[in-house]
Amino acid sequence: MSFTIAIDGPAAAGKGTISKAVAAHFAMAHLDTGLLYRAVGAQMLQGADPLVAAQSLRPEDLDAANLRSPEVALAASQVAVMAEVRAELLAFQRGFARREGGAVLDGRDIGTVIFPKAEVKLFVTASAEVRARRRHQELVADGTQIDFDQVLADVTTRDARDAERAESPMIAAVDAVMIDTSNLTINAAIAVAVSIVQEEIIS
Ligand code: DC
Repeated sequence: MSFTIAIDGPAAAGKGTISKAVAAHFAMAHLDTGLLYRAVGAQMLQGADPLVAAQSLRPEDLDAANLRSPEVALAASQVAVMAEVRAELLAFQRGFARREGGAVLDGRDIGTVIFPKAEVKLFVTASAEVRARRRHQELVADGTQIDFDQVLADVTTRDARDAERAESPMIAAVDAVMIDTSNLTINAAIAVAVSIVQEEIIS
């Protein structure tokens, strides 16, 4: 049986954590589609042509150590505006979405472009300040020295580029359920997402 859960939203809204937890709860596979763009962005920073990097992307490239760095995040949002790069990454994501046993995909355009027929669509968001504070805490915990103001500036730059690009902009699907995590604990946000999926499964 295939069952697709599309979870979109801006950086650091909690969609990654929610997606992993929902996938684990329902024993489904999970794909963080941001890693595809990050892997291409990381290769661009090393001098590769982004289109060639997207065409030759291998599964092990998604495990590269540096993909979570702020530099790679910005590079990812730069390659993500390129229509040819997005087209290269489409088939893999669609195949993943329809795999047996169900799949959770998180990203920016899963419910709108990659898999508009997803059985469940969530749009997870939070205010830019809350998201920047969370990202700053994560980076500092990982040993990265960076100012909060710099993280907030990176978050807003990336939001603008992701939302304003012509190709597959970040936008909630009309039939997506919104979850604003600004004032929710992560466990509360996971509980909301799990109950929405549960309702859809039994209906
Ligand atoms: O989710 P993330 O922060 O790892 O994503 C990194 C960048 O990749 C983000 O700025 C936009 C892009 N992205 C995208 O355009 N479409 C997706 N489905 C996932 C990510």
